[in-house]
Amino acid sequence: MTGDDPLEESESGEPLTDGGDETAEPQSALRADGGAAGADDVALDPWGSSSVSDYRKLFEEFGIEEFDEILDEVPHPHYLMRRGVIFGHRDYRPVAEALQNDEPAAVLSGFMPTGDPHIGHKLVFDEIIWHQQQGADAYALIADLEANSARGMSWEEIDEHARSYLLSLLALGFDPEDGTLYRQSTNREVQDLAFELGAEANFSEFQAIYGFDGETDVSHMQSVVTQMADILYPQLEEPKPTVIPVGPDQDPHVRLARDLAERMRFFKVSEAYASFELEPEERDLVAEFYERLDPADFDDDDLRCVHVAEALEETPLSEIDADADTLSSVLTKLNEAGMEPVRPRTRFFDRRATDDAFNALIDAIEGEKRVYESHVDAFEIDRAEAEELARQVEVENGGYGFQPPSSIYHRFMTGLTGGKMSSSVPASHISLLDDPEDGYDKVKSATTGGRETAEEQREKGGKADECPVYELYAYLLAGDDDEFAKRVYDECVGGERLCGDCKEQAAQLMKEFLADHQEKRAEVEALLEDADIELESPRRR
Ligand code: TRP
Ligand code: SF4
Repeated sequence: MTGDDPLEESESGEPLTDGGDETAEPQSALRADGGAAGADDVALDPWGSSSVSDYRKLFEEFGIEEFDEILDEVPHPHYLMRRGVIFGHRDYRPVAEALQNDEPAAVLSGFMPTGDPHIGHKLVFDEIIWHQQQGADAYALIADLEANSARGMSWEEIDEHARSYLLSLLALGFDPEDGTLYRQSTNREVQDLAFELGAEANFSEFQAIYGFDGETDVSHMQSVVTQMADILYPQLEEPKPTVIPVGPDQDPHVRLARDLAERMRFFKVSEAYASFELEPEERDLVAEFYERLDPADFDDDDLRCVHVAEALEETPLSEIDADADTLSSVLTKLNEAGMEPVRPRTRFFDRRATDDAFNALIDAIEGEKRVYESHVDAFEIDRAEAEELARQVEVENGGYGFQPPSSIYHRFMTGLTGGKMSSSVPASHISLLDDPEDGYDKVKSATTGGRETAEEQREKGGKADECPVYELYAYLLAGDDDEFAKRVYDECVGGERLCGDCKEQAAQLMKEFLADHQEKRAEVEALLEDADIELESPRRR
């Protein structure tokens, strides 16, 4: 479900925006910000039926960043970005920069073929396609191993659904000649990489992240490392910024993948001031006092560790921005180093490099350097240069040099019947295979954010922020036309738009969309046959 299975894990019918501030300034008209104040705790469970009741918690508790803050850096942002449907990200900046500068970048997402593709999947299809059009290498995969192990789907069912997902993806504009399609079960490279990554993860970690226990199938665990390999697959040839568009329920996978990418690296680059190692908070403290001492006042090597220690000891505790433990460990380290000169340097720590790679790194470092047992200190290159050098040496010496993968997160859609979108309640969602007339009918009978009476609606305006029909306009029906989406919103909250007509218009647009989409699906049949992906699983009996 690429995370987006709104069908299983959608937001529980919570209003689209901040529960009630309809007087927000007009720009917010297109935005779907906020999320209702938390009724329950956020739990991000890729296989559960977690719901997101408060998107703000995802920022506060999980460290997902707000997409808005980087919107300006994205060239020709997609309407889902402009309208806040894509609300969060992890580390998307390198991808935006690469797109901006026509440098290599990749996009990848995966789909568990457990049912028919629906309008929630369309969000992810669109995200992949948009990145492909912006110049990224695009990958879409069928998570058939995961569907088989985590959902118990048969290979026949998987094949049928996989085909249908792929037809919709192609119909919406994915270029299979330029992009890559694969299924997990027949991609040997992915499986080899999965095995390799598995050596960097262990059961306790899976327990902590996913709540696995002694009853969890081994193949379910294997599907996790497979997904890790999927996520890093675009970087097998060479490292590049890669974005994984998914729903926030997939964030645990993204975090693990980012960790594993890091653990696979040959070298760790950090900053140091003397031969000893510093923890990040310790480093901040030393950095601050190093600056305060005004190193320029000292002749060449005259600034010694003891001087920094003295300065720290003379400073009243209240002026030191660090806890007692940090302070005391810093003092110990500085005093032990005694008369060693304090000199800022960039450190390359040998994490899992081969001897050849370590030696190659030493040779490649320009300027003054000092070589130790398992690290090298360089005095004339800065952190950014060092990162680049470390990656280059790693890649030239048989390592992957992975960049931590980035992600973007979209909101789950509200069910048409008000609650969650649920595959067991057909009226709550619209499948991309629904008969256009059925699509029309579903929209016509959808819940709205309208008032009791037309009169009241004219007077107070509708609640577009709480209306699944408005959501349909913003997420899909208005397409790239912001002005149209904004007009619907303004007319609704301004009381000029009444639900009957509004739904009629939406229903009509939905009918046209479905008819058009299904026609395109038929047209891309041949394209799919020619595409480089096995449509029939060799595991079928
Ligand atoms: N686990 C995803 C889901 O439940 C499917 C998936 C497999 C995936 N591999 C992936 C999603 C890689 C994104 C990237 O839908
Ligand atoms: Fe929703 Fe349209 Fe009614 Fe407004 S007018 S509440 S957008 S159906």
